[in-house]
Amino acid sequence: MKKYAVILAGGIGSRMNSAVPKQFLEIGGETILGRVLRRFEEHPQIDGIVLVMHGDYISEGRSIAEKLALKKLLKIVPGGSSRKQSSFNGVMALPEEESCVLIHDAARPFVSERIISDCCNALDSYQAVSTVIKSTDTVYLVDEQGFIAEVPDRDNVAMVQTPQGFHYSLIAEAHRLGAENPELNFTDDASMIVHYELAEVFCVRGEFENRKITNPADLD
Ligand code: CTP
Repeated sequence: MKKYAVILAGGIGSRMNSAVPKQFLEIGGETILGRVLRRFEEHPQIDGIVLVMHGDYISEGRSIAEKLALKKLLKIVPGGSSRKQSSFNGVMALPEEESCVLIHDAARPFVSERIISDCCNALDSYQAVSTVIKSTDTVYLVDEQGFIAEVPDRDNVAMVQTPQGFHYSLIAEAHRLGAENPELNFTDDASMIVHYELAEVFCVRGEFENRKITNPADLD
């Protein structure tokens, strides 16, 4: 079954406080977006890439893709006002065939070949996969008044990363349901599968290095 990647670069990175969206900032002489695209381009199990770009920056995205001479880039599509909407646009741009898709945040430029492979391989056995790391800190659920409501057992708590992988028909169905609930703002795709009880989501081991670049300190 073919495996596609949807790279989400539809945000503006407001918490980064930079003049341009964070995906255009350079780390080690290469833009964050370029680095992410290269990792998926070079992965032997990925057949094609859909890039979701913020609508105001499509030409900048195209020029990064052209410089890399990407052979697997299928389309560049505009993002939406939320990550959920951008993911919807990316999934809908995929060829409608029996396939799998890995959805990845452009803000995670250090995704490893091993993580991409593990996600691809897990999709041979499971309909949905997510990437997680164990929490090293204790985690609280805090109520709206600011008090601790619950202390989950740390051994069962995981921090969510991407890529997250899905069989195409499953994620298309999740997005169809998600579109019926515009008030629900999912910040990752696997949560939609869980919310609508569509399938079990298998978790593969992430890496600290695969963290999301969010604040200026993350660039250090
Ligand atoms: N994203 C997207 N479309 C949006 C919002 C986010 O494609 N409307 C993407 C981002 O480009 C990023 C990923 O989703 O790769 C994770 O989102 P986040 O880190 O929150 O990125 P931003 O929304 O860009 O950052 P901020 O919340 O600081 O504005």
